[in-house]
Amino acid sequence: MAKQISGKARVGLIGCGGIAGAHCQGYIDHARKIEVVALADISKENMDARAKQLAGLGGAQRQYADWKDLLEKEGDKLDAVDICLPHHLHRPAIIDAANAGKHILCEKPLCLTLKEADAIGEAVKKAGVTYMSAHNQLFMPCVAEAKKIITSGGIGDVYLVRSQDCFRIHRTREQWGWRATLKTQGGGEYIDTGYHPTYRLFYLAGSEPEAVCANFTRLHCKIEGEDTASVSVRFKNGAIGEILTSWAFPVPTGSYMIHILGDKGEIYGSGSELYWRPEGYAAAARKQLPNVNTFSAEVGHFADCLLEGRRPLHGFEEGGHPRRHQERQGMGEDREGAAGVNGFNVQRATSNCSPNRER
Ligand SMILES: NC(=O)c1ccc[n+]([C@@H]2O[C@H](COP(=O)([O-])OP(=O)(O)OC[C@H]3O[C@@H](n4cnc5c(N)ncnc54)[C@H](O)[C@@H]3O)[C@@H](O)[C@H]2O)c1
Repeated sequence: MAKQISGKARVGLIGCGGIAGAHCQGYIDHARKIEVVALADISKENMDARAKQLAGLGGAQRQYADWKDLLEKEGDKLDAVDICLPHHLHRPAIIDAANAGKHILCEKPLCLTLKEADAIGEAVKKAGVTYMSAHNQLFMPCVAEAKKIITSGGIGDVYLVRSQDCFRIHRTREQWGWRATLKTQGGGEYIDTGYHPTYRLFYLAGSEPEAVCANFTRLHCKIEGEDTASVSVRFKNGAIGEILTSWAFPVPTGSYMIHILGDKGEIYGSGSELYWRPEGYAAAARKQLPNVNTFSAEVGHFADCLLEGRRPLHGFEEGGHPRRHQERQGMGEDREGAAGVNGFNVQRATSNCSPNRER
């Protein structure tokens, strides 16, 4: 069982690349509650960049080339870890951290396969540590406000939830790095950026998925997996969910990151902008919400959960939830075999993700 934390939570940052830089802004903003005391990465350059970013806080960020050394040598000087590694390393790092009795904040996705998710679940439960899924877009103002409106009955029963995250990326195969291969990425766009619209969809629908149907394709990106996914979900409460996510094109003009229709109205929006049209009103009211740095809010929430012994908004279960849903669409280790699991009707563009579209 992990120890109760008093004072500041002390964190080891494992993986010091791109997204770790965004997390560090959270450690700067919430320095009274949480601090990074050690770094682990195979890249000295990346550790130095994070150390420089956090230098103003006055803490000592001891550096390790191997996260196992960080866990062993930091011992009781560490309460938690923040894992920002490539996808294929999430499972081993989470399990090592849990076995060392450390609380865990881990980037999405939870891991690559359901088998891995089960092993993680066991380790986290056995260790009695807090696991928080780094689902930063739950803190996006339009998502947080929409959830409040739905929960207070503002649009009645939810009938349809749409969730989108699309943008166009131009990169060479080399620039895609570990994201280019199925072995290290665990899929394509859908296990990466596609995780965001998926956990948002579940959060807003407030129900378990019952049936899933998906089409994946690769239109433009030089990667082994898909770069675009269109997914349809039927929830146990009867609501329909739609996910559109892509690295090949932007969000279609006139549509929003989230759009929810209920029997008493609708809400839709993107980022800090939200529209709410109760049934019977001709036009929607527009709400401009205060901007939020979602990564900073996520780190602040992790600190509060550790210091107050609270359960995170999205823990292990919700982290595994999109993974479970994604694997039903053939995104796991056995991509062919996983399609159609549990009797779900799965339609992919082609087997094992499509070849590049002919031009
Ligand atoms: N929430 C978001 O919006 C968002 C955005 C980008 C990335 N992410 C997630 O963050 C994670 C990391 O992505 P990134 O873009 O920062 O990747 P990145 O490649 O920029 O950083 C990964 C870091 O891990 C290090 N690393 C690789 N192998 C290692 C090993 N064996 N031991 C220790 N360190 C090792 C690399 O040197 C690098 O510094 C992924 O899970 C990704 O999905 C989330």
